[in-house]
Amino acid sequence: MSSYTPPREHTIPTEVELQSLVTTFYSDVRLDPLLGPIFAEKVVDWDGHLAKIADFWSSVMLGSRRYKGNPFAAHISLRDRLRPELFGRWLELWGNAARRTLAPAAAASIEQKAHRIAESLMASLLFKPTPTPSRASPPPALP
Ligand code: HEM
Repeated sequence: MSSYTPPREHTIPTEVELQSLVTTFYSDVRLDPLLGPIFAEKVVDWDGHLAKIADFWSSVMLGSRRYKGNPFAAHISLRDRLRPELFGRWLELWGNAARRTLAPAAAASIEQKAHRIAESLMASLLFKPTPTPSRASPPPALP
């Protein structure tokens, strides 16, 4: 007796699916009241930006190594505006777009990647160490 094995759902998106995810995501971002104005101010060449982001995700998900930039450096000039709520909104829009454009398992996998990257971006951009007490200004003497 042969047992039926359902086809495995693919967890790795194709290049074409990634393109469509990136296009969908940025059309939502551009309309978003929180994120839209930040991108409108920074991005002058939208075709170039979309191509770069598609390269980024192709490198992350498919190991294509097409992306040659540095995402941390690219966000430094935004540091004072990037509050955790904005990252939350970014991830919400990314998840919605992923579920609309990819198979469920691939959407879950790319959402998880985005969460990890957002966490490390946030940690490096938003972390402000508390200054250590300086020797030049000793703590006030105890009574
Ligand atoms: C609050 C959330 C975020 C905001 C407002 C934001 C905004 C931006 C903006 C305005 C740029 C264009 C910079 C420029 O061309 O001058 C950019 C670039 C980029 N962002 Fe974000 N971003 C956010 C989160 C993320 C996250 C979570 C990821 C990855 C998962 C990401 C990946 C990238 C990449 C790969 C670039 C291109 C960097 C390069 O120029 O090489 N961003 N982002």
